[in-house]
Amino acid sequence: MTERIEVIQGDITRQTVDAIVNAANTTLLGGGGVDGAIHAAAGPELLAACRTLEGCATGEAKITRGYRLSAPWVIHTVGPIWRGGGHDEDVLLARCYQNCFLLAVRHEITTIAFPAISTGVYRFPLERAAIIAVKETRRFLESRLAMRKVVFVCFNGATLDGYRKVLAERPQGKAS
Ligand code: APR
Repeated sequence: MTERIEVIQGDITRQTVDAIVNAANTTLLGGGGVDGAIHAAAGPELLAACRTLEGCATGEAKITRGYRLSAPWVIHTVGPIWRGGGHDEDVLLARCYQNCFLLAVRHEITTIAFPAISTGVYRFPLERAAIIAVKETRRFLESRLAMRKVVFVCFNGATLDGYRKVLAERPQGKAS
């Protein structure tokens, strides 16, 4: 199953996959970071489409076309802002991945790329976020053979090292 998980350093807007995931905010009207990069690459139609979605709650996900992106779909999800760990941040981040996968199944998406959701402006600790991302992805891939590839696209070396470290650890409770 781990052969269906990849981790690379790069720009998510340049990935040739069925869907790229955007780490958005609750307005879905764009922002900085990966949100800004995706809107810049997709063009103004993406913002026009997002305007019709009436926002997105933290932990939820909504889908649009990719417009000028090479990816035909963009799945917008809103990660939790880190506030110390006592405000359901772990649960909400896990829900982001679960809801992105739900939309992927509904739209027959078989290759998907994720940024390190919430680990930038939202200050979620990187390794803690990577553990959640990998755990939810492994759990999804166990039951969904149609999903051919999940790529974690890391924008810098520190993020790449964090994801690689987490991926190298055996899944909890698995025989060695
Ligand atoms: N490709 C891949 N990853 C990227 C890219 C890119 N082009 N640009 C930034 N990143 C990385 C960041 O380096 C970080 O590791 O995405 C990760 C998430 O960081 P943010 O984009 O800051 O997202 P997040 O922490 O979830 O905060 C969301 O930031 O941009 C605003 O509108 C957005 O308000 C929302 C908030």
